[in-house]
Amino acid sequence: MYRPLPLLHHDTPHPGGRSALTCRYRCGDACFQEVPNTSANAYAGDVIADAVSRRAVVRGAAVLTVAAAVGVGAVTGAAPAVARPRHPGGGRRDGARGLRFTPVQPNTLDAVVVPPGYRQDIVIKWGDPLFPGVPDFDPDRQSARAQARQFGYNNDFLSLLPLPGEPGRQVMVANHEYTSEWLMFRGYDAENPTREQVETAWAAHGLSVVVVQEERGSGRLRPVLGHRLNRRVTASTPMRLTGPAAGAALLRTTADPSGTSVLGTFNNCAGGETPWGTTLHGEENINMYFAHAGRETDRRYGLPRGATERKWERFDERFDATREPNECHRFGWVVELDPYDPDSVPRKRTALGRFKHEGAQPRLTHDGRPVVYLGDDERFEYFYKFVSSKRMRKGRSRAAREHNLTLLDEGTLYVARLTGDSPGEVDGSGVHPQDGEFDGTGTWIPLATGDVSHVPGMTAEEVHVFTRLAADRVGATKMDRPEDVQPSPRTGRVYVALTNNSERGKPGRPGADEANPRHLNKHGQILELVEHGNDPARDTFVWRLFLVAGDPQDPATYFAGFPKDRVSPISCPDNITFDPHGHMWISTDGNNLGVNDGLFGVATHGERRGELKQFLTVPVGAETCGPVVQERRVLVAVQHPGETDGATAERPGSTWPEGPGTLVRPAVVVVWPEDGGRIGG
Ligand code: FEO
Ligand code: CA
Ligand code: CA
Repeated sequence: MYRPLPLLHHDTPHPGGRSALTCRYRCGDACFQEVPNTSANAYAGDVIADAVSRRAVVRGAAVLTVAAAVGVGAVTGAAPAVARPRHPGGGRRDGARGLRFTPVQPNTLDAVVVPPGYRQDIVIKWGDPLFPGVPDFDPDRQSARAQARQFGYNNDFLSLLPLPGEPGRQVMVANHEYTSEWLMFRGYDAENPTREQVETAWAAHGLSVVVVQEERGSGRLRPVLGHRLNRRVTASTPMRLTGPAAGAALLRTTADPSGTSVLGTFNNCAGGETPWGTTLHGEENINMYFAHAGRETDRRYGLPRGATERKWERFDERFDATREPNECHRFGWVVELDPYDPDSVPRKRTALGRFKHEGAQPRLTHDGRPVVYLGDDERFEYFYKFVSSKRMRKGRSRAAREHNLTLLDEGTLYVARLTGDSPGEVDGSGVHPQDGEFDGTGTWIPLATGDVSHVPGMTAEEVHVFTRLAADRVGATKMDRPEDVQPSPRTGRVYVALTNNSERGKPGRPGADEANPRHLNKHGQILELVEHGNDPARDTFVWRLFLVAGDPQDPATYFAGFPKDRVSPISCPDNITFDPHGHMWISTDGNNLGVNDGLFGVATHGERRGELKQFLTVPVGAETCGPVVQERRVLVAVQHPGETDGATAERPGSTWPEGPGTLVRPAVVVVWPEDGGRIGG
C-alpha cells in the first residue's frame, strides 16, 4: 500500500512542492494563475502501427528496509532531520560502474548531504567578486555597481568547458535565474523597493563566466580572480537579436527602432553546450518582469495585467507594456554566448522560437548540422526541436568560429505531437496498460523555416515571436511541464523531463494521456524518445516513459522495469545531464515527498537500466540545479536555499552555507571522492 514519506517541516501546499516565496519570485505564481494554454488544441491521434519495443511485465515491488549511512558535510544552521531510511535505493556500493556509491537517504537537513566517502566544498557564492578591486560581499552594503562585478543570485544552469593552454583550469559558465529580494535585502519593503535595490537585482540576474582552478589531488575548484575570460552579463548588457524575426516590427521599440538590439537577459533557467564551444541559455519566466499587459498574445505567455512583483516598471518604462508593448517580445528566447571572447555580444536566436525556454541542448545530424532540443516549462505546454540548415565547421579558426555563430539562425523549428499505442487504457491512475508500457509514436511538426511559415494564418515572424500560438494551431501535445530535453551522447536517445502538473485531469483541463498518464501529477515523469534511424534530422520517432517518479512504494511509479525495492524515491525531475559512462543524472525541483531536493544517477542502458540512486541532497528550501558530472567531480548549483514560506532576510528558512547570523546565499558546490578516485567507482 502507498504510504507517503513523513512530512517534516516542509509543509508545502504549493503545487510542485515549492514554497510560496519561490512561486512568487521565480515564476510570478504561475500555478495560481489561469493556465495560459486554453487553446482548443486537444489532439488525439490514431494509433500508428509502428510501435516501440515493449516490456511485457512490470516487475513487482517488494520492499526491503536497509539503513544506509548519511554523509553530511559543511553542516550549518537548523537542527537536522533525516527521514526514516526505509528506502534503501540500492543501499550498497555495487551498482553499475559510475553509480557505485551508497545512496543518500531522503532528509530535511539544512546542508548539502553527500554519500559516505565523498567530500564537498563551495566553489563560489552569490556576491563573491570575479575581479580584483571588487568589494567582498557585504549584506548591508550591497550596490548595483559591486553586484555587476560579483557572482549573481540564484545560480541555475552550469557548464564546465575546457581551457586549452592553461592546464588544470576550466571555464565555468552559470545562469542566474532570478532574484529573491526578501532574502537578499534586510528590511525589504516589497511595495517600495529603492532604485539601488532594483538596479542591484538587474545586476544579480544574467550570466557569469568564471575560470576555475583545479586543486591537485582533489576535485576542489577555486575561482581565478580577474582571469581575462571572467565576465558578468546582466539584465542591462547589450545583446543582438538574430535570425528570422530580427528586425520585425513586433520587436521594435522606442529605444531600438531597428528591432535588433536589446538590453539584457533574465530568468535564465537551464541551457546547453554547443559542439562549437559556445553556451546556450534559456529565458524562461519572462512574463513576470512586464507590467500592465493585456493583449491576447500577452495572456498566452502569462503576462500580468497589473503591476509586477519587483516593480521594475517604476524605474525603467521598458518594463511597462503600456509604454513599450514590444519590449516583452524581446525576451523569451535562447541566448548564445561565446565564453571564450569576453568582448562578444550575446545573441538571442529567434529561429529557436519564443516561449518559456527551460534549456537548449544541441547535437549534430549525421551530416553535421546542429539540432537543438527545447522545452517550454509550463503546465500543458509543448516541447520542440530546431534543425539547422547549415553544417558546423570543425576547428577553432576565426573563419570557423564566425561561421558557427550563424548556425542557429537558419533552419526549421518543429513541435512534438505524441500518440499512445494503448488507446482507452489510460485512466489517470498511473496503472500501466496491458502492453506493459506507456509508449507510442510521435511526429515533429514543422512550424517555420526561416521566412517561410508552415502554420496557416501566421507569418513566419509571428510563428517565431508567438510560437506557443503556432504550436496550438498544429495540434501539438500538451505535456506536464517540459523541462530539460537532452539527447544521450552514448545512445542517441532523447530524454524529456516532465516535472509535474497539478492541473492534469481537473475539471475543464486536459485529462491523462499515455505520455502524461497521471491525474493531479505531483511527481512527474521522464520520457525517452528515439528518432527513426537514430537520426536527429528525421521527423518521426517512437517514445516510452523511462521513469514515472514518486515514492517507489507507490504502485503508479516505474523505473524502466528495474526492481523498485532497489531504487531511491524521486519527485519532480527537472534538469538532466550525462556522465562519461553514459548514465543519466537528474536534479529535482520541488519535492512532493516532503523532503529536500536532490541529485540522482540512473543507468539508461545495460542490465541495470532504471537503477536510480540518490547522490546528494540540497539544503532547506533549495532546488538542485545545473548538474555537471565529470569523471572525478560533480558540480551542482544550489538555488534559492531558504526560500520557505514566510522566510525573510531576518527570519531565514536556511542559514546555509555560512551559518546563523549570515544571509543565506545561493552557491555552486563541488563534490569528489575523498580517495581521489572516480565518481561512482
Ligand atoms: Fe526554471 Fe523550469 O525551471
Ligand atoms: Ca502502451
Ligand atoms: Ca529548471
